[in-house]
Amino acid sequence: MKTSLNSVFRNSLRRLLVREKEFVLENKIPSHEELRRKFEDIEEFGLYLHIPFCEQICSYCPYNKEIYNLDIARSYTAAIKKEIDFYASLIGDKPITSFYIGGGTPTTMLHNGLREILDHIFNVFNMKCKTHMESHPNHLSPDNLKAIADMDIRYLSMGVEALQDKHIKFLGRPYTLEKVKKAVENAVNMDFECVNVDIIFALPFQTYSDIEQTGHTLVSMGVDQIAAYPLFRFPYTKMGGNSDDGNYNISTIFRRRKMLGILENIFYSAGYERTSVWAFTRKEIPKYCSVTVPLYVGLGASGGTYLKDIFYLNTFNVSEYIKAINSGKSPIALSLNLSENMQMAWWFYWRIYETIFKRSDFKKRFQKNFDEVYGKYIKLFSFFGLIKEDDRDRIILSDRGAYWLHSVEDLFSINYISKLWGTAKKEPWPQKIFL
Ligand SMILES: C[S@@+](CC[C@H](N)C(=O)[O-])C[C@H]1O[C@@H](n2cnc3c(N)ncnc32)[C@H](O)[C@@H]1O
Ligand code: SF4
Repeated sequence: MKTSLNSVFRNSLRRLLVREKEFVLENKIPSHEELRRKFEDIEEFGLYLHIPFCEQICSYCPYNKEIYNLDIARSYTAAIKKEIDFYASLIGDKPITSFYIGGGTPTTMLHNGLREILDHIFNVFNMKCKTHMESHPNHLSPDNLKAIADMDIRYLSMGVEALQDKHIKFLGRPYTLEKVKKAVENAVNMDFECVNVDIIFALPFQTYSDIEQTGHTLVSMGVDQIAAYPLFRFPYTKMGGNSDDGNYNISTIFRRRKMLGILENIFYSAGYERTSVWAFTRKEIPKYCSVTVPLYVGLGASGGTYLKDIFYLNTFNVSEYIKAINSGKSPIALSLNLSENMQMAWWFYWRIYETIFKRSDFKKRFQKNFDEVYGKYIKLFSFFGLIKEDDRDRIILSDRGAYWLHSVEDLFSINYISKLWGTAKKEPWPQKIFL
């Protein structure tokens, strides 16, 4: 019953905002000529690189990853370099203005391929940005941090997740409190522009005082940014599959809201500001974030590329990705054509997710007046205190708005991600996925 009510709400909202009955991703690979035309009228790109390897598989984790293996990492490095060459022929010397390395765990390849890939990227593309990268606390020894800094990676993130041994254990993370604090300390003592720490809250048996302690500890350790996510249960993960405790029951919603409120108070009074729905960054520090440019190219297994009216996804399967590239085939497994309504809704969603945007940027992108398209929603959101407007043409998400955006996001992304990623993980080349 709960699920069907959720899906009725989700479908109604989708029809209202996007005017589409459903989204269909299909196994249609754009030809080189089609791609060339799509790349031609884009001025700048974001770049995403996916490293799909981890030393262990965490039971709650939805991302595309497999256990690290040196031989596979070597073949993956060679395949990625070929994919880079393919995009270089389409992008030419247009600037790449945002670069993010995610995973999986990118630092599994720190000494086995990562430098080779980065050197190739910086040789081939016109890179006009700093590199942001995810890492694992177990990889952050002083020597490894030096190797990371030597690759000119200036923005670093790590998954700390919890700062009490019992919660670290519940999540099955392979370290103790003492060890993870040392990793944070090592990273903070280096000269990165921004060190981000991920934590997960609303864990079973986690108390409000556990959360308070976590917030205060991270602030006192000098962490530049904290990304705090509530525990999501994705049905296709081990934890999600074993649980009948959904993401939406009233007590879960209440606990999440209260815990997020505790963290907001701690971070705001310590001089941090909200820089995305989940992240809080020290004032004056440039934020650590994933790709910020609206249009981007994704490299590697499960890399996603978005070019105005088309979104496409590479196969999730690492050996199929390598095989496709080595035999001169495209690693693209699925594509989705976006109507203008979908493009505008996608733009609006991601800009609001970043908590701040300008109406004029919408006009620049779509040659349409923002208020004519979304004015009525903005009025409604303002009335309920979800957004604020300032005299510099900016629309800013409030704390209340961030919470509700997250709830709506939950409703869409848990469902969509589960269906899309769940299927793509099972089938390397699915024919069609209906969302
Ligand atoms: C790719 S991982 C981070 C890098 C590295 N692999 C690690 O585990 O330290 C991305 C982050 O997503 C968050 N995450 C993963 N699964 C989650 C879930 N089910 N619910 C909430 N957050 C989750 C965690 O905070 C995690 O650090
Ligand atoms: S949380 Fe990090 S280490 Fe764990 S499986 Fe996911 S990506 Fe890998």
